[in-house]
Amino acid sequence: MTLGVGVIGTGVMGAEHVRLLREETAGAALVAVCDADAARATAVAGDAAAFTDPLALIADDGVQAVVIASPDATHAGLTLACIAAGKPVLCEKPLAPSADEALRVVEAEVAAGRRLVTVGYMRRFDPAYAAMKQALDGGAIGAAVLLHNIHRNAAAPDWFTGAMAVTNSFVHEIDISRWLLSAEMTTVQVHAAPGGDPLLITMETDAGQIVSTEVFMNAAYGYHVHAQLVGRDGTVEMAPPTTTLTNRALHHGHQWPENWVPRFRDAYRIQMNAWVRSCTVGPPVGASAWDGYLATAIAEQVVAALATGARTALSLATPPDLYR
Ligand SMILES: NC(=O)c1ccc[n+]([C@@H]2O[C@H](COP(=O)([O-])OP(=O)(O)OC[C@H]3O[C@@H](n4cnc5c(N)ncnc54)[C@H](O)[C@@H]3O)[C@@H](O)[C@H]2O)c1
Repeated sequence: MTLGVGVIGTGVMGAEHVRLLREETAGAALVAVCDADAARATAVAGDAAAFTDPLALIADDGVQAVVIASPDATHAGLTLACIAAGKPVLCEKPLAPSADEALRVVEAEVAAGRRLVTVGYMRRFDPAYAAMKQALDGGAIGAAVLLHNIHRNAAAPDWFTGAMAVTNSFVHEIDISRWLLSAEMTTVQVHAAPGGDPLLITMETDAGQIVSTEVFMNAAYGYHVHAQLVGRDGTVEMAPPTTTLTNRALHHGHQWPENWVPRFRDAYRIQMNAWVRSCTVGPPVGASAWDGYLATAIAEQVVAALATGARTALSLATPPDLYR
């Protein structure tokens, strides 16, 4: 069976999802695209239908499953529309800009009685993170005691605030740290450098582990995501994301990617293929609506902790049975 997929939002991420569906995804056909900018929708559509109204795309009979890659503020409302239509949805992170809105999505999915929502926390499909999790779960490094994360961007726009660094970037570390450690976060504390960038964010888990994350939005040299898991018997960490090393002008080294698209290209592709397969033969894959709620709820409380600088206990809802 070929799954008819519609993509909402055809900017940087949406265009990559469109490309993946056209060129690198088994069992899927791109049948519709939607962008608020009509010219953009038409330019990307090719032989797929072009919409400017996302609700019309969701309602279209040819669309069996939906990818949402429009701005953050649209995610919860459009995901609710997909649930109401009974269509599986891969929604880009974050699930919603606020914990309350994310919880409404969880409640709607629970009322529908089945998992329809996958949140695009694609690092779960990245081969390096997957190998680190396999090493930990297979006992290769003993019990995990620490996880060190680094999340650096070359440059952020002037209007990008510390709060945005948390809700837009650090949410990835919230999700991948919970997934890697199979643990829940219990406390958070944030230290900000003068000027507010970088941030050093420390979380504790319900298994007594410590998760440290540097979030540096203007690190100048390139896009650099790194993680090191420290166990009682050893450590496992990412190697640089490169296939070649260069010697020139008295230097030896490798190239950094410009941004997340080349760095996580494999993760986006593997995620899309796994999601398409899950829509037709199941079971659900990737981050659930509940995972999406937790990432957003924790991020919201990290932003509050950024303002106080205090070690703060996290307050989170209890998971409904659908996600246990
Ligand atoms: N998973 C990841 O690694 C990752 C990376 C970057 C961005 N994202 C997420 O993807 C989403 C899109 O980010 P982007 O960088 O592609 O943004 P972008 O600004 O490049 O693209 C957004 C597109 O959505 C369109 N749009 C706006 N409102 C719309 C609406 N109501 N209906 C339909 N289309 C609408 C815009 O015209 C634009 O073309 C964001 O939520 C962002 O957080 C995820």
